[in-house]
Amino acid sequence: MSQIERPEPLLDESLEQDRVSSAAEAAPSVSAQPIDLIAADNTVWQPRRGAPLRWLERAALAFARPINRLIGNPALNPLYHTDTIAVYLWLIVAITGLYLSFFVQFSFDGIYHSISKMESQLVAHIIRAIHRYASDAAIIVSVMHGFRLLFMGKFRGPRWLAWVTGVLMVAVLVVDGVMGYWLIWDQRAQLIMTSVTNWLGRVFGTSANFIAGIQAVEANDTSWIWIGLLLLVHIVLFGLVAFGYWLHVKRLSRPKFLPARHWLIGVGLLVFVLSAAVPLGMLPPAKLDRLPGPVSLDPLFLFFIPPEINGTANGLWLVTLAVIAGFAVIPWLPSRRKSPPPVHIDQTRCIGCTECALDCPYQAITMVPRTDGKAHKFVAQANLDLCVSCGLCVGSCGVQAISVGLLSYTALWTIIEKRVSAARQRTPTGKVTVVFTCERHAEHGAQPYLHPTESTNLDPTLEVITLPCTASAPPDLIARSLDIGATEARIVGCAPGDCARREGNIWAEGRLTRNRVPRLRRNYANAPIGTYWLPPNDFKQALRAPLTADRPTLGRMAAPLRWRNLIPALILCAILYVFSIGLNAVSYTPYAAGQARIQIVLPSPAALFAARAGQHAANYAAVPVRLSLHVDGQLLFEKDFAPGELNTGHAAALFENVPLAPGGHYISFKFESGESSGISVFDRIVDLQDRQVLLLDYAAGAARTERRH
Ligand code: HEM
Ligand code: SF4
Ligand code: SF4
Repeated sequence: MSQIERPEPLLDESLEQDRVSSAAEAAPSVSAQPIDLIAADNTVWQPRRGAPLRWLERAALAFARPINRLIGNPALNPLYHTDTIAVYLWLIVAITGLYLSFFVQFSFDGIYHSISKMESQLVAHIIRAIHRYASDAAIIVSVMHGFRLLFMGKFRGPRWLAWVTGVLMVAVLVVDGVMGYWLIWDQRAQLIMTSVTNWLGRVFGTSANFIAGIQAVEANDTSWIWIGLLLLVHIVLFGLVAFGYWLHVKRLSRPKFLPARHWLIGVGLLVFVLSAAVPLGMLPPAKLDRLPGPVSLDPLFLFFIPPEINGTANGLWLVTLAVIAGFAVIPWLPSRRKSPPPVHIDQTRCIGCTECALDCPYQAITMVPRTDGKAHKFVAQANLDLCVSCGLCVGSCGVQAISVGLLSYTALWTIIEKRVSAARQRTPTGKVTVVFTCERHAEHGAQPYLHPTESTNLDPTLEVITLPCTASAPPDLIARSLDIGATEARIVGCAPGDCARREGNIWAEGRLTRNRVPRLRRNYANAPIGTYWLPPNDFKQALRAPLTADRPTLGRMAAPLRWRNLIPALILCAILYVFSIGLNAVSYTPYAAGQARIQIVLPSPAALFAARAGQHAANYAAVPVRLSLHVDGQLLFEKDFAPGELNTGHAAALFENVPLAPGGHYISFKFESGESSGISVFDRIVDLQDRQVLLLDYAAGAARTERRH
């Protein structure tokens, strides 16, 4: 099996040569540096997140802990790979969607029958099921990925672009899913139409034009226009998301795309097998003259249908919009915490080694031609608009040319000196373990160890130094802590895939294992230095095992994959996928049995009036006219028109649903004025079936209406 997350190999051996020799010339003695740049509590790190996000992260870590125990190798925790697994699932959705689109027939009946036919074909029905279930899983995994970035506080500053596009991508994908459901032209699609009809009615006053348009294309056999439009929107929205994804990762160096091979194969297989095991089946076709019966309704995409059908959706859309807008503006919400200042590069020291530019995960450093006459061809230049102050580049620079706020080589060295010497004074044995850890560990598992003097229960030989990230300290500094009295150095950072700085743990491991520049100096290769890549609430584990030469911990990030770890990880993915499948089985009965409807759809009441009144229309020009619906002699609907309103053609469109019990009814729909007997539109006894919708439209009472019942 393959190895996990191997550190990036050294790009060019000559880089290190350049750095080592030039660094030796360029680096001044560290003790000559000013030391007033450290915080009062001897740290360069200040918490960036407020309590709510820390609590959110604490909850997420507590949730992930049993998962890590079960899997036995945190590198394989699927929660740490939600970004790439989401991409993979969306890619599966795109490819299966492309396949399905070849089957589309462009008419209402045609598309329904082509999809029904797919259900009887082995390959097509599996691909259809994958398309559907993987969409649900992809939404869930994308939201989980967004949630991880939320609790890590990764949304401010230059990250706003990734954050906002993330929120919008998920919103657009949900809308796109609705388009997909609509395309099938079954009873669920009919409920979507009814919901849209109700929504249009509320927002624009009437939805008569919309529903009449659908009825017209159905009557004229031109429904290919509507299906074509739905398919076009379905594809265009997905294309929009692809563009959004490009923006999403635009500011990242080496953005991840697909997950590692074991996820590709494992997740791919379980998507295939589980989708094949649970066929989707078909609902009855949409019929505009029937109320749909019970349907399965995926709440992830179609959450709006029940409130729309029940007429209680007024608040729903406001809440939905508020949630989307609320998440989108998170990057700009005021915070009591001051963002750390961006990177500062002292170009006079820079020897153009390019290491910082290579290491920066956010493309915030570029190498530009040098103009100050020094020997090196290039000099590093920061783009402050892209820097997220992650501090990784401080650990990249061998000549102390970079600082990020308080974090600089000099300040770090001062802290190390002070803290190691303090620890030596309080430990009679002279044993001192200096631990370099990242801010996530500091806020969780390492919290009690940060101030060892304040707790009598803690090991006094421990000295925990918090950095923004484990990669913020150059390997040289870690080694030098041993020179001044530390008996061992432990570097404790986040598990592979879980680094809040994206690549910090990989860089730190690479440098200390001498696979990446700046490398740990050769004569420290066997020194008591250990790396521990653990979830932040498992910090304690890094202190347990003794650090001895026969049990090296360096290089363990690339631990081999084992089935006994991978299988539970895939079982967890399968559980999530089964949940996605289950969402498709949520049942909803929109209309109880024992009801029927009369539906009045008049985009232009004046046109109906003109057609029915004929030459008598002029007689009504100066009097008010009422359009009324009587059922069994009882007035159930009326609409008054001002004198002349129907003659000038300005009467507003009408759409009305009138509920009725099934059975025989005498229905009279007519224009009336004063004492005259009026102009009849529809006047007959109709035996309404259960769930039947009797349409009273422009053609009511004429051939088309006859056709409908
Ligand atoms: C369509 C669904 C989504 C997909 C496929 C997706 C995928 C990705 C991928 C592959 C990365 C690059 C990770 C890396 O290279 O380290 C990324 C980064 C990011 N995503 Fe998403 N994402 C999605 C939705 C979201 C959502 C909903 C949010 C938040 C609301 C979000 C916020 C971010 C942020 C802030 C980053 C930058 C992370 C950083 O600065 O390290 N994404 N996303
Ligand atoms: S602190 Fe350094 S590594 Fe981090 S984003 Fe800024 S320039 Fe890049
Ligand atoms: S600033 Fe960057 S390019 Fe310049 S010496 Fe330091 S790491 Fe190398």
